[in-house]
Amino acid sequence: MRAYEAAVTTTWYGGHTLAKQGAALHQELVRYAILAPSSHNTQCWKFALEDQAITILPDLLRRCPAVDPDDHHVFVSLGCAAENLNQAALAHGLKADVGFDNAQEAVRIALAPTSEEITSLFNAIPARQCTRGDYDGKPLSNEELRLLERAGTSKAVRMLVLTEQVAMERVLDYVVQANTAQMADSAFVKELKTWIRFNAPDAVRTRDGLFSVASGNPAIPTWLGNVEVGLVRPQFAAGLTRGISLMLRAGSPRCIDWRVATQAGIAYTLGVFIIAFAVGTIRVTLIAPRFGSLLAVLLEAPIILAVSWRVSRWCNRRFSVNREPRTRAMMGAVAFTVLMMLELGVSVLIFGETFGHYFAKYALPPGFIGLAMQVCFAFIPWIQCHVRET
Ligand SMILES: Cc1cc2nc3c(=O)[nH]c(=O)nc-3n(C[C@H](O)[C@H](O)[C@H](O)COP(=O)(O)O)c2cc1C
Repeated sequence: MRAYEAAVTTTWYGGHTLAKQGAALHQELVRYAILAPSSHNTQCWKFALEDQAITILPDLLRRCPAVDPDDHHVFVSLGCAAENLNQAALAHGLKADVGFDNAQEAVRIALAPTSEEITSLFNAIPARQCTRGDYDGKPLSNEELRLLERAGTSKAVRMLVLTEQVAMERVLDYVVQANTAQMADSAFVKELKTWIRFNAPDAVRTRDGLFSVASGNPAIPTWLGNVEVGLVRPQFAAGLTRGISLMLRAGSPRCIDWRVATQAGIAYTLGVFIIAFAVGTIRVTLIAPRFGSLLAVLLEAPIILAVSWRVSRWCNRRFSVNREPRTRAMMGAVAFTVLMMLELGVSVLIFGETFGHYFAKYALPPGFIGLAMQVCFAFIPWIQCHVRET
């Protein structure tokens, strides 16, 4: 373990060294760049140094096709390295102009002299780490949570920190399911094994991969780890979790989930229709004769809206409808269409109304209020995607 600690000390140190110039300075910037996170700690990058530029290329020999078939983790990792390099360059009096070279599929960083600036992000480079071990158990203050959410939020992404037990348990359920599914996938496990370093000599020799001791596992011989990767504890400890952060995509996904929106929309209508039919029967037979049709409809409206809200929530969960507004709008549109057809069908086929009589009702106040309720019913799934669930 002494060799491991020595390697950590010589790798993870900060402080700017303006004395360095030229190639030595560029190598120093690369040292900061490789302190960035990378998926499975593959360190899937290569650096090409020029006089006034550094290019970060993907090291495709370090791809993880099972867990990252489209290489998007590879390129996210290059982005992380570029950000470290950008901060380190500024601390050393160089302005980094970061761009993507489509031909080379590489990040190209042009460097030009500027005044030196030590940012807090630069100071954070050697202090940052992905910790999979147990934390100290102390809750963060509301101010710290707010800062975290702000730091992780941009135009494209919203960071949401969950601290309520019920919400965390719901998310953890999915995390456990996903972890179980991954561990049942032999290609994933085979690939993961090649990136786990089961003991300090292994970690020092390769200087990459996931050091299993850092996740609270005992050091074991490599052959033993390779026999049973299940000996390694998962990367989260469900019982000890104090908070979960979710990164939510703020923009709209490119496609609407038509199938889910249609299924959820139909289920939503049927659920509300059955209850509304029962409430409507009470309205027509008991309330309207005593208080008049208008008051009866006004009394019924909030009940139907509350029922719609709950049924829609249930359908969102049951059909896993994502919070993307267009999918929710589609769900509402399907629900509205099915509801109108059901109402028309029941009125004409069961109660023997004529089409003319059916549509004429909408011109009268009770009919108009009923229609307004149906429009609200259609908007509820869309409204709910803008409301924070508790
Ligand atoms: C694109 C990307 C995906 C990652 N995915 C996971 C992940 O699914 N689970 C996890 O525990 N860590 C994940 N990490 C964190 C890396 O495993 C971690 O950065 C790496 O082991 C290096 O450790 P360090 O960040 O402490 O330097 C990911 C990092 C990146 C850049």
